[in-house]
Parts: sequence; structure tokens; C-alpha cells
Amino acid sequence: MKVTVTVLETRDIIRQWRKEGLTIGFVPTMGFLHEGHASLIKKCREENDKVVVSVFINPTQFGENEDLEAYPRDFNRDTALCEKMGADLIFHPEAEEMYQNPCTVVNITTLSDNLCGKTRPTHFKGVCTVVSKLFNIITPDNAYFGQKDAQQLAIIKKMVKDLNFHIRIVGCPIIREEDGLAKSSRNTYLNETERKAALCLSKAVKKGQEIIFMGCDSEMVLEQMREIIEKESLAKIDYISMVDVLTMQPVDHVEKPVVVAMAVYIGKTRLIDNFIYGEE
Ligand code: PAJ
Repeated sequence: MKVTVTVLETRDIIRQWRKEGLTIGFVPTMGFLHEGHASLIKKCREENDKVVVSVFINPTQFGENEDLEAYPRDFNRDTALCEKMGADLIFHPEAEEMYQNPCTVVNITTLSDNLCGKTRPTHFKGVCTVVSKLFNIITPDNAYFGQKDAQQLAIIKKMVKDLNFHIRIVGCPIIREEDGLAKSSRNTYLNETERKAALCLSKAVKKGQEIIFMGCDSEMVLEQMREIIEKESLAKIDYISMVDVLTMQPVDHVEKPVVVAMAVYIGKTRLIDNFIYGEE
């Protein structure tokens, strides 16, 4: 497995693979990899000749008072995991390599207006910009994203369509801890008490999944989920919402495939979770 830090050397390797007629799969990450990331790499390994993972903590997707400095990192561990999962290349640039006084951004409207976009108004602009740049550098055939970040996945799919990237976007299911908590690099911020409290998210997801089957409307599903979270004294709801899986706009009735998504503060840590209903 190779590790590159510059765009130039990365492009050289990709060019060689293209000459050989190989297909390229890509898994963008911010590192501190866990089994959620590993599941994406595994799927990518199964479907492509070459597997590229990027490890880059993208500064432009963090708001001013967010956790850019504190974001966990362990590149040695990330390298070992990528190697174990059969990756061929890790692209691990410094911020200066990716951004040289840029004047260009990729901004997506509508889909980024609500849910996480409300609390983090510049977040998806940063995500779309860096993912576009990474797509242009790696030029993958297939790129893998987790359903854990449901809004991000919907946004990337729309961006790829709108901007005619010739890339297939593959959504992968949420990987959870044994007790249900969705795996996340940010779970390391939780102390022991908070870790227990964080279970209210997955409990609410479970409850929502149970009752949506009974034909409840949006408000009834959300109310019961809210109740579970509000019982937890350390938890504070940022949002909990039922939205159309493609447009990310709120729905009242469960007619088309929907995502029921939430962000909840456990102490100072903001966690997200969701489930999809009605998709094949
Ligand atoms: P990061 O948070 O490192 O996540 C990288 C990918 O792993 C994302 O597609 C995310 O949805 C997926 N992922 C994280 N936890 C998961 C879990 N428990 N189960 C399944 N998949 C999971 O998302 C980002 O980085 C960045 O925004 C990025 C796209 C790399 C752009 O900077």
C-alpha cells in the first residue's frame, strides 16, 4: 500500500492505473478510522481493482466554534486499518496542499438548508468543495459514503448529478456498536456517563422504526422518539425530523422513502443518527 501527500504524485499513480485499464474505487474520510469506515473500504475492495482512501481533516467544513483542533487523529492506526482492509493507496495531504488561497467553492442550495445545515450553515459548502476536489484528483469510478451522514450522502448524490461527475455514488449502511450507538470518530469525546446517555439516540431510532411500520404519520413518530431522548437528562435535541430521502425536505405523511434523522447534544458532543424507511 502506498501513501501520498501531494496531488502530483497521487495523479501519477492514478494515471498509471488508468493506463492499465483498472477501475478505481474511492473512500473519502477524515481519519481516526473505525469499523464504519472499514465497512466502506470493504465494499470498495469488493467492487474495484484499486482502492483509494483519503485521510484529510478538512478545515473548510468546520465552523468557527467547532472541533477542528480537537478532532481525533491517529494516522499510524489509520494506515494499519487501511492496509488490513486491502487499500492500495492513502491520500493524506496537508491543508496547504489542498487549499492555496482558493476563490472557488462548491455550494449546494435547498438540500443543505435544514437538518445539520441549519446548525452548521457553512458545513456542506466545505464538504462539497473538498469532495469535488478529491473527485477531480482521484477520478474514481465509484465512491463510497455512509448512510450515517444521511444528509451528506443525499447532497453528494445531487452534486454529482448537477455537476456531471462521472462517478457512481454508493451508500453504505450504518455500522453500530454492540449496544446500538452508531460508530463515530466523535464518540471518543464522550466520558463514561455520557457514553451511556448517548444510547438514547439509537433507542429512539429503534422506537421510530417500530412505530413507522404501524402507519403512523410523521408527527406521531417524531413525538415518540423525542420522548425517549427528553427522558435523558444529559441530552439536548438539536433537531429531529422526517424528510424525503432525495430532497431532504420535511414530509408529514410517509408516502415516499423517508429519512428520520436527528442530531442530539450529549453534553458538549453533537451526535447524529437516522434510519431510512420505504427504500428497497
Ligand atoms: P468521516 O466523518 O471521516 O466519514 C467518512 C465516511 O465514513 C462518511 O461517508 C461517513 O458517512 C462514513 N461513516 C462514518 N461513520 C459511519 C458508520 N458508523 N457507519 C457507516 N459509515 C460511516 O464524512 C466525512 O468524514 C467528511 O465529511 C468527508 C466526506 C470525508 C469530507 O471531508
